[in-house]
Amino acid sequence: MTDTLTLRTPDDWHLHLRDGAMLRAVAPETARHFARAIIMPNLVPPVVTGADAAAYRDRILAALPKGADFTPLMTLYLTEDTDPDDLARAYADGLITAVKLYPAGATTNSASGVTNFDKVRAVLEKMAEIGCPLCVHGEVTDSEIDIFDREAVFIDRVLDPIRRATPGLRVVMEHITTMQGVEYATEGGPDLGATITTHHLVINRNHILAGGIKPHYYCLPVAKREEHRIALRRAATSGDPTFFLGTDSAPHTDANKLLPCGCAGCFTATNTMSILAQVFEEEGTLDRLESFTSINGPKFYRLPANEGTITLTRGDPVAYPSRIETEDGPVTVFDPGYPLHWRVEP
Ligand code: DOR
Ligand code: ZN
Repeated sequence: MTDTLTLRTPDDWHLHLRDGAMLRAVAPETARHFARAIIMPNLVPPVVTGADAAAYRDRILAALPKGADFTPLMTLYLTEDTDPDDLARAYADGLITAVKLYPAGATTNSASGVTNFDKVRAVLEKMAEIGCPLCVHGEVTDSEIDIFDREAVFIDRVLDPIRRATPGLRVVMEHITTMQGVEYATEGGPDLGATITTHHLVINRNHILAGGIKPHYYCLPVAKREEHRIALRRAATSGDPTFFLGTDSAPHTDANKLLPCGCAGCFTATNTMSILAQVFEEEGTLDRLESFTSINGPKFYRLPANEGTITLTRGDPVAYPSRIETEDGPVTVFDPGYPLHWRVEP
């Protein structure tokens, strides 16, 4: 059996680093294994201008451990007031790599997101013209739509009409959770990519709700039925360049998770590579792990793959902290529910 695996250094194409004390605590967890990450802009207040993105990038760089070789790829938070020229300048200057679309109210800090998609038409057209990718949180927010159907309905009602109206717009369907998401992404051609998280390859909705409620497994989009998890595992391990890793690692303190109205998010930065190696091993596709973590993402974003490598070895259960301490309180590390056997060599 293979027990050593060397991959080009992976990238995380969807990451929440937060700010302040939380940023300082979680940035090293990602920088340890990843060379680059697309940084989500849902701070309070959100990252809406090129100047905001530059300032946030500098705060991230200052929070990294000395000697860390990690590049944050910044995004702007799309609002109905986004200025297409400011966006185009920030993209041309290399300040931003993508723009994030949150439907207003879809998730954590999404209140400034988009309600009326007609109001962002000019921005989307500009993005199509300059080739700037749009990262989409693909859930409708209408209260009459069942939360487990929100992704599939978004594809039909919002995403497909936007793509038809804006030829050439490059779109990443972020953190897909359904077989409908897999199907739509598979058929979408070269201008459509999709990220898949680590946790959605591991948990289904039973993990959250059966045998007691598990707040640490609650995230958005919420995990779906087992048949959807199986579809995601097939897509991630298929080698299809449409699909790449975006962990959506989203730290919240335990105090904010364990509330009557707890926050959405799974924190997977610490053990993602060990979990993924195990998932790919279970699927008999270890030879495709590198495509998912290190090749397909850069290809979509038209960036070179990393030159460096990381090595994982298989052995006794890997020790990793169950919590990361922060000045704001502990953050629980995602527990896949079984021991992990692939260790990232230091
Ligand atoms: O679970 C999630 N947490 N999903 C999101 O879309 C946002 C994220 C966060 O920022 O906490
Ligand atoms: Zn996210």
